[in-house]
Amino acid sequence: MPSANNRAAWLEGPSANCPTPPEPARPWRLILLGAPGVGKGTQANLLRERLGACHLSTGDVFRAAGKRDGCAPSPAMAAALGFMRRGELVPDSTVWEMVRERSQCLHCPGGFILDGFPRTLVQAESLKKLMGEEKLQLDAVLNYELPLGEIVERLSGRRTCEKCKAVYHLTRQPSQTAGVCDHCGGRLIQREDDRPESVIVRMETYERSTAPLIEFYRNLGLLLQVTATGSPDEIYARTLAGLQKTTVHPRS
Ligand code: AP5
Repeated sequence: MPSANNRAAWLEGPSANCPTPPEPARPWRLILLGAPGVGKGTQANLLRERLGACHLSTGDVFRAAGKRDGCAPSPAMAAALGFMRRGELVPDSTVWEMVRERSQCLHCPGGFILDGFPRTLVQAESLKKLMGEEKLQLDAVLNYELPLGEIVERLSGRRTCEKCKAVYHLTRQPSQTAGVCDHCGGRLIQREDDRPESVIVRMETYERSTAPLIEFYRNLGLLLQVTATGSPDEIYARTLAGLQKTTVHPRS
């Protein structure tokens, strides 16, 4: 099994030093789509561990920037954190600036999994143009689908490690000791945007701005629908089966 890639390099930006990951038999270049809380981060983590691809989450970058010790966030980043807290999208220009300066990560020999980006048609068009310029080809866009009631249940029970960002669920994926991370002993906290009032805004924002990307990628011949019910391992197996069938035939 390929060893984990260094996610910190993506979080820290272009100045960070990322060791070359082992080259897997087939580097996958994937986008994960789906409503907040559907389980994208959980699946991205399994895909990273098992396929060796680099997990690139825009939400993680913004959260990490907000927590950086001894260094005040830039005005654009401070504004971004305000949008996140309310459950709204960060402006396209801020997101694009952050992605653009990390575009080298798209060349990772292990492949990549974009989680939470793109989230608007403007972002999707910008990514398409960039990948064309960099002569890179997406393999598939995985769209995870789950009934709303189950999504709300997943979000309301989510707890995240303050230190290593591992994700748990109070009842579905509990830590061995309540409130303590199994991996690093860090404190488990509830994300600010998992409060009910922010969750409502996030769902509305998803329907308005992100759901149209399903059609965008279907038209490009890249969309792979994945039912997100069941355990993380079951969903992973479904994802892999879909990818291995390579039913997606990209159109340029
Ligand atoms: P982001 O961090 O991307 O959050 P999100 O898309 O809302 O997705 P989540 O992280 O909430 O959920 P997930 O689908 O990853 O689910 P998870 O695996 O954790 O973005 C946050 C904010 O940042 C945005 O609102 C926006 O403000 C800003 N932002 C980020 N990118 C942006 C962009 N490109 N443009 C503009 N703004 C941007 O799972 C959820 C819970 O369910 C967990 O507790 C987990 O343990 C549990 N779970 C997972 N799978 C299962 C399962 N199979 N069975 C039972 N429980 C499960």
